[in-house]
Amino acid sequence: MPIQEGDLALLTLYDKRGRPKKFLVKVKSGKVFHTHKGTVDLNKLIGRNWGTVIETNKGIPVEVHKPSLSDLIEKIGRGTQIIYPKDSGFILVKCGIRPDSKVVEIGTGSGAMTLVLATFLVKNKLVTYDISEKSLRVAKSNLEKLGVKNVEFKLRDAKQGIDERDLDCVIMDVPDPWEFLAVVREALKDGGTFVAFVPSCEQIPKTVLKARELDFGLIEVHEILDRQYEVNEKRTRPMPRMIAHTGFIIIGRKLS
Ligand SMILES: C[S@@+](CC[C@H](N)C(=O)[O-])C[C@H]1O[C@@H](n2cnc3c(N)ncnc32)[C@H](O)[C@@H]1O
Repeated sequence: MPIQEGDLALLTLYDKRGRPKKFLVKVKSGKVFHTHKGTVDLNKLIGRNWGTVIETNKGIPVEVHKPSLSDLIEKIGRGTQIIYPKDSGFILVKCGIRPDSKVVEIGTGSGAMTLVLATFLVKNKLVTYDISEKSLRVAKSNLEKLGVKNVEFKLRDAKQGIDERDLDCVIMDVPDPWEFLAVVREALKDGGTFVAFVPSCEQIPKTVLKARELDFGLIEVHEILDRQYEVNEKRTRPMPRMIAHTGFIIIGRKLS
């Protein structure tokens, strides 16, 4: 479908070395968007195909793309650290999340992982808990802007318990996930999966040892490294900058 009024569009301009600068904009007739290389008349986008190239008022080419989930996460408003696409994609696949899975998230934060989960749970609602009103406010505002509706937000210290039962998966992004594992075990169905996303090494043994004590099996710890490469006629090499460290992903399954 061509670009319509109200769509989100990813405008991409390049510097002399070919590095992209991306802007996420809402397409609105009568609106002009200002970039560092001139203005873009958003009227011109309506009715054009995604992937079209237009020009700023200074004649600089601008690619117009439909934002992917990864683009949306890159631009999401942040009140907390977020789970990046390299990690959220891996979590989705490792947990075997399907459109009708029953999933709870603990630690909504800015809603980056919430967005990914809600996008894939097309036949179900995601329930997400956070102890902080501010985090929930940021996450709700982010998801509202993106038109995500299948999420129920609960303001609560999830260590005290969660309401849902018979869950396929619980995903935690909290500082002390080992403290939640008993609650998570009670909420998971037999064979269900927990994920704990933790930024520091010290959090790994605390979580893994507690998970073993509580009778979880198939416990794994992963770190995902993602390095981009630049390619030109003379050389191909890793980009000098990368997101070097985000966190560790601990996964385990409930033994019956
Ligand atoms: C790093 S953020 C989560 C970021 C999120 N995964 C994202 O991708 O945007 C951690 C969140 O856990 C919440 N949190 C910490 N302890 C909690 C608890 N006991 N119960 C519920 N939420 C908690 C914090 O308020 C914070 O918003």
